[in-house]
Parts: sequence; structure tokens; C-alpha cells
Amino acid sequence: MPLPYFEISGGPRLRGTVRISGAKNAALPIMAAAILCDGEVILHDVPQVADVVSLGELLTKLGLEVGRRPDGALRLVARDEMNCRAEYDIVRKMRASICVLGPLLAKRRQAQVSMPGGCAIGDRPVDLHLRAMKQLGAEIELVSGDIVAKAKRLHGAEMFLGGPFGSTVLGTANAMMAASLAEGATVIEMAACEPEIVDLANFLNKCGASITGQGTPRIVVEGVRQLHGCEYRIIPDRIEAGTFMAAAAITNGELKIDNCRLDHLMAFVDRLVAIGVNVEKGPEGALVSSARRLEPADVTTQPFPGFPTDLQAQIMTLLCLAEGNSIITEKIFPDRFLHVAELNRMGAHLRKEGPTVIVEGVKRLIGAPVMASDLRASAALVLAGLAARGVTRVNRIYHLERGYEKLEDKLRAVGAEIQRKEGPDVM
Ligand code: EPU
Repeated sequence: MPLPYFEISGGPRLRGTVRISGAKNAALPIMAAAILCDGEVILHDVPQVADVVSLGELLTKLGLEVGRRPDGALRLVARDEMNCRAEYDIVRKMRASICVLGPLLAKRRQAQVSMPGGCAIGDRPVDLHLRAMKQLGAEIELVSGDIVAKAKRLHGAEMFLGGPFGSTVLGTANAMMAASLAEGATVIEMAACEPEIVDLANFLNKCGASITGQGTPRIVVEGVRQLHGCEYRIIPDRIEAGTFMAAAAITNGELKIDNCRLDHLMAFVDRLVAIGVNVEKGPEGALVSSARRLEPADVTTQPFPGFPTDLQAQIMTLLCLAEGNSIITEKIFPDRFLHVAELNRMGAHLRKEGPTVIVEGVKRLIGAPVMASDLRASAALVLAGLAARGVTRVNRIYHLERGYEKLEDKLRAVGAEIQRKEGPDVM
């Protein structure tokens, strides 16, 4: 079966303006939160990406009306509360489906969600999600690969949501959503501080929830009896913005990046500046340029406000072309390095030692056929193609289409030579 791929001719310096889309990872849990609401939810700036479509399909099966309005806003209304099951078929495609667990349990008092398996970036357990639901009073069993959860009424609880790799983003989202309709107060210690969690809390509050402390490791939720719908705008996608900043830097270009929150990208910008990239605050976001050779830098991924794991692959591509050696350590998903072998196919000098990659800067990357393995690794290969000498073919870009809205159109509009084509899967 023919599959879409990108063909990129490297070299052109990117120049112009890019508008960043709404954040996929904020939109997904907020869409799931519509299960909790009595009434219409209207969401602006939900990106048109495959993961949003998949979650829309799941929510439709769960009895919600889901559709785009002519102005592009996503409209969700819960109509039928009979089906509480998220099947393997859909969870297998998208792990973020786990974020229907908390809302189903809180609103419908039962949920059956297929247990997500591992994926290209690691094992990805959900023990912390289940711990949170149990502490709120749910009974949980594992039946034929499904998480089956029941509760007469959830009650508030004090919980600690730290795991071996720190806080959990979707685990915090599930706990916050379930606690919103629980009886009494819930305290979530070691909550994730990511901007997407703040966005979810702000959305829930606009629907009548009572949440404080979002953006800090201690979130307090006072349960309420009912949530109503609301109209809400999703925050800009910080990972898409970071990817375009890296694109400006790696092509020695100059991009104005609109609809971008620099306060969500402090750790990434800190590393860009260390590498020698100019980043200035622009009227609606940032101005990013780079006119000279890049300096090496060390990077360690951490929960927010630390350096995001979702930009690790992209900065690795940038550091491949720095003048000297860099060390990249992955502290969230220690196996998230499938892009390493592909970048080496393009002439990079990368050596993996456990959760660390040693990057020896090279003068140039060389175009080659490469294979995308996960969403962010795919973006790293596109960046490599933009800078490489010759033609790069990035296969299996369906990974990329899960989370980047119209990436090739946006890149072409600022001067990249990139085409989306279809052909046999050649790797
Ligand atoms: N973890 C556990 N137990 C759990 C949950 C997580 O040990 O119950 C571990 C994970 O294995 C990992 C760490 O905790 O080592 C952090 O995982 P987290 O739960 O925060 O990840 P997530 O919520 O499943 C979200 C994003 C990911 C992003 C991570 C980390 C969404 C839809 N996904 O996943 O985004 O990498 O947070 O920031 O929000 C992507 O967009 O490409 C992507 C993978």
C-alpha cells in the first residue's frame, strides 16, 4: 500500500512568518473533559491533526456529538451516557485515549478502557493514573486487557502522583478531571506543572470547577456537583513553536513565530541561546535567527519548567551541526532515541550510552532515505532534511501527522523545498 512521505531538498534559509497552531496536548484532555460537562463545549484553536480526529471518533462512540463549526471551532456535546468503553482498537492507535478514564468514572460512575501498551518511546505504564482513581474511591480490575473501573460516587483524597521519572502529565489530568466532580476536596501533590495542565484547569474552572494551584506541584480541587459547558481557546503549541525555532536556526534563517508563548519555552530558549541562536520577543511571539556556526551545549530533559522531552529529538538534530561535542540526557523516556540511528544515516556522529547520547558535531548532514518512528523523531528528521546537502526522503510521516498541523505547507510558505508524496514504503 502506498504511504505518504516527505521529499526535502536541503539548503534554503527559511524566512518569513509562521503561525503556531493550538496545542495538541492541551486539546486532547480538554476534549475528553467535555464528557464531564452538561451542555455545549466550544473549543477554538484545536489543531487539525490525526490524534484529534482519533479522540473525536472515540468520544463519538462514547455518546458525544463532535464536529467542526464553519469557523473551525470544535463543538462537543455529551448526549448519551450508555457506552463507557474505550476499546483496544482506538487506545492502541493513541495512548492519550487514557484521558477518558477520569471523566467517565466521575460522570458515569464506570469506565472500561483498554490498557495501553508500550510504544516507540518506551513502556509508558499507567500505574499512577490507577492509583489516583483508587484513592478517589474507585474499584479497579484488569479484565482481558481492559481497565474496568467503578465507583458509586468519587470522594476527595490526598494523593502523591510522583513516579520514578517525576510527575505525570496525563495522570494529573485524569486526577484533576475526576476530582472536579468528587465529593469534597482533593489535594494532588507532585502534580505535573506543564502549561497543558494549567490550560485544562482553566478550562474546567470556566465550566464551574474549583481548582487552584495549577502550574505548581500542589493542586487543590474542591469537588462540585455539576459542570456546564463553555467556550474556550486552546493555548499555542509550545512543541510546534520550538520545532520552528529549530528550523530557523538549522537553516541559518530568520523566522517570526506568531501565536507563541515564550514563557512556556524558557528551558528550550535558554539552550538555543547557549547554542548561539538569537531569540527575541516579538509582538505576537518570537523572532528567531541564526547567522553563524552553532556552539555545542548539554541538554537534560525534565518535567516542566525543565527542558521538554518532546523537543529532545529536534535539538539533537541542531547539535549535530554544532562546532564541538554535546551531551543529551533523557530523564523522562530513557529509550526515546529511535532517531539516533536515522540521523547517523545522514552523516551525524551520535553515540548512545544508556539514557545519554554523545553528539559529535559534523560540518554537514547528507540527504538520505530515513524512517520516522514517532511523532517528535519525525520532526527531527525533517529538520535534518532542511539542512542536509541533497535530497532526504522521510518515510512513514503518518507519525508526524498525528501532531503537526500542515507542517509541509507551513515550511513551504517560509521557503523550504518540501513535498508530500506517496509511494511504496521503501525501508
Ligand atoms: N509514568 C509512570 N506511571 C504512570 C504514568 C507515567 O511511571 O502512570 C512515567 C512515564 O513512563 C514517563 C514519565 O512518567 O517516564 C512521564 O510520563 P507522562 O505520564 O507525563 O506522559 P504522558 O502524560 O503519557 C504526555 C504527552 C507526551 C509527553 C509527556 C511528557 C500528551 C497527550 N502526551 O504524555 O507527548 O512526551 O507527557 O511530557 O499530553 C508527544 O506529544 O509526542 C508526546 C509523546
